[in-house]
Amino acid sequence: MSTATAAGSSLSIPIGDLPPEEVIFGRSEIMQAVRQKVEKLAGMNVPVLIQGESGTGKEIIAKLIHKRSPWREGPFVKVNCPAIPATLLESELFGYEKGAFTGAYGSKPGRVELANRGSLFLDEISELEPALQAKLLQLLQDGEFCRIGAQEDSRVQLLR
Ligand SMILES: Nc1ncnc2c1ncn2[C@@H]1O[C@H](COP(=O)(O)OP(=O)(O)OP(=O)(O)O)[C@@H](O)[C@H]1O
Ligand SMILES: [Mg+2]
Repeated sequence: MSTATAAGSSLSIPIGDLPPEEVIFGRSEIMQAVRQKVEKLAGMNVPVLIQGESGTGKEIIAKLIHKRSPWREGPFVKVNCPAIPATLLESELFGYEKGAFTGAYGSKPGRVELANRGSLFLDEISELEPALQAKLLQLLQDGEFCRIGAQEDSRVQLLR
């Protein structure tokens, strides 16, 4: 006699396994175009800027792009930019080496490094101060960044 297991009857299906129309709702032409863009961009190793009003699904689109990308098995690292104080953001993002500043007793990888071979989601990036946006430019253009206090640029392979 066969019995259905809890796992077999689970309602939770990874979004990467669902067709995009079941993750991102909306039948309008605009939403269809958004889904097509998601499919196209997911296969490209490029930074993606997602703009839209509050609650319009920017985060769900970012997750879907990650889950449809070649690096779907890698990490999806979210950085809520406004939630991290500006003074800590650089070390949070880029990490630091031992002795880089008072209190840096060890080295620590930043979120950028944790997102290696995955996707880095910079939520509310427009809230970042311009100086940090400029530092991110080098990362987005060349995949290069530097831990605070490090001698040479460390390279990180990021999907976007
Ligand atoms: N078109 C859509 N299809 C499916 N779910 C959606 C859609 N738009 C929004 N949602 C859902 O609405 C909620 C808010 O979406 P999400 O957090 O992605 O929005 P956001 O654009 O990041 O908003 P905010 O600017 O407030 O952070 C989520 O639960 C998301 O799944
Ligand atoms: Mg959001």
